[in-house]
Amino acid sequence: MLRDIPFNDARTFGNEERYVGEVMRSGNLAADGPFSERCRALLQELLDGPHVLMTSSCTHALEMCAHLVEVGPGDEVIVPSFTFASTINAFALRGARPVFADVRPDTFNLDVSDVRRKLSPRTKAVVTVHYGGATGSVDKLAALCATRGVRLIEDNAHGLLGTYRGRALGTFGSLGTLSFHWTKGLTGGGGGALLINDESLLARARVLRDRGTDRSDYTNGRVDAYTWVDVGSNHAMPELIAAYLCGQLEQRHTILAHRRRCWERYDGALSSWAAELGVRVPHVPPGCRAPYLMYFLVLPTHVARDRFIAHLAARGVEAAFHYPALHLSKMGRPYGGGPGSCPVSEAVSAGLVRLPLHNTLSQEEQTRVIAAVREFAWVAEAS
Ligand SMILES: Cc1ncc(COP(=O)(O)O)c(C=O)c1O
Repeated sequence: MLRDIPFNDARTFGNEERYVGEVMRSGNLAADGPFSERCRALLQELLDGPHVLMTSSCTHALEMCAHLVEVGPGDEVIVPSFTFASTINAFALRGARPVFADVRPDTFNLDVSDVRRKLSPRTKAVVTVHYGGATGSVDKLAALCATRGVRLIEDNAHGLLGTYRGRALGTFGSLGTLSFHWTKGLTGGGGGALLINDESLLARARVLRDRGTDRSDYTNGRVDAYTWVDVGSNHAMPELIAAYLCGQLEQRHTILAHRRRCWERYDGALSSWAAELGVRVPHVPPGCRAPYLMYFLVLPTHVARDRFIAHLAARGVEAAFHYPALHLSKMGRPYGGGPGSCPVSEAVSAGLVRLPLHNTLSQEEQTRVIAAVREFAWVAEAS
């Protein structure tokens, strides 16, 4: 019997197991060990610009961003409605008011004209998400923020290895973040990173990550002992996670090439089927090199979406949807969200389905997924 095709499968295929074993056998599990340093140095080289601090998650890196740009009660932060809760929660935690802007209908990234409309004298920062690692407008958003004296923060949870006009995603704002959650293309089974493009924020970022101490100055020989110098938390990446991640980062070319083949196979097989049914497929704008994190379809309604997911499940294919439009969520509504206020986010949120795309998806499995998707038209016509 054929196995069901999981939405995600993060099995190892490089040195992950060996590296995790090395840390375990070394007896030294402290954070900021040799594997954390290897990950940090590699990312810094790959991104060609920012300072990189390895963190325990992207969520924590975002919380550090909120802290570093000093948002608080009375400040507004413009955020997309179509994103994961962490993007916004980090700023709400500090008492800032999230102001929801809509996303563009092609890339599902922040709509720059809606951001312009929502800027106010209270706006302290804009947080953008490069959905699926694709963007066609982050340069325009950065220019708008610079003109208005507002910080731009890139939640780049989806965009590691993605570029726009030759520049790495995560390097356009004052700060950027990365996620190594197990559903991402390169994973540590968790973990994240903070990308610091504004040098003036670096020293405080180190302290914030180190429980409010100047431990990194001590490690670098700049002080004789470390002590409590600011508020902070424990946001460093555990060394076991760094060891796993290091194995994955080393395999980045193989992983990216595999994901690209899968993405292009889906796109080649499904684009015209989708067009006939009024189903949307991903759009990668000119100038953008996407990291092929996900392949999705956007169905016209949530009823069609739910039926489609059930149709795939009945054929042994696990598909997933996300994100509920956050301006309509329990937390989002009190900030002024209401039906119709971010119409594109609402439509995408209702219709989007992600197909299985992971580092061990085989060609045979993908052929089965494609066949199951294409049968949906037949079922729809027959009913
Ligand atoms: C856009 C976005 N931002 C932030 C996060 C949070 O990432 P993490 O799980 O690493 O905290 C996610 C979740 O994966 C995400 O999709």
